[in-house]
Amino acid sequence: MMERTLSIIKPDAVGKGVIGQIITRFEEAGLNILGMKMVHLSKTQAKEFYAEHEGRSYFDGLTEFMTIGPSVVMVLGGEDVIKKSRALMGATNSPEAADGTIRREFGTDGRRNAVHGSDSPETAVREISYFFDASELVGGT
Ligand code: PPS
Repeated sequence: MMERTLSIIKPDAVGKGVIGQIITRFEEAGLNILGMKMVHLSKTQAKEFYAEHEGRSYFDGLTEFMTIGPSVVMVLGGEDVIKKSRALMGATNSPEAADGTIRREFGTDGRRNAVHGSDSPETAVREISYFFDASELVGGT
């Protein structure tokens, strides 16, 4: 099934200078970049974006971390892109992520884990629309 997903290169990875290496992982796997921008999230934006996690023990740490510097937000498209991009990312906690995954290679722990990816088609629609208008995307109107 052709899908879209929202992918974020988080501030830790942007700070390490590995934006290009992460994008290359996605492109070499056959995923297409349909939209991309660099954004420095405010605390309000981080809380809005991660609203479904409000109340979790990690919420404050996560939303604070996402404001420490710019992120790269991207829309990826392709066949089963949600599943494929999450496989490329690896497990949430970087030291536990499989060898060869983005989080294992470029992340540090469960907070500084280099990338985010939407976890379902419904979440992807909401997350994409948080950052992009349809007209900003390849194939958009
Ligand atoms: S859940 O319950 O399955 O949704 O949780 P999980 O997917 O493991 O994590 C959701 C997001 O929370 C981030 N996270 C953390 N941030 C800061 N500190 C700690 N301790 C922490 N633990 C988890 C995790 O990186 C996930 O971020 P995203 O951007 O959604 O990948």
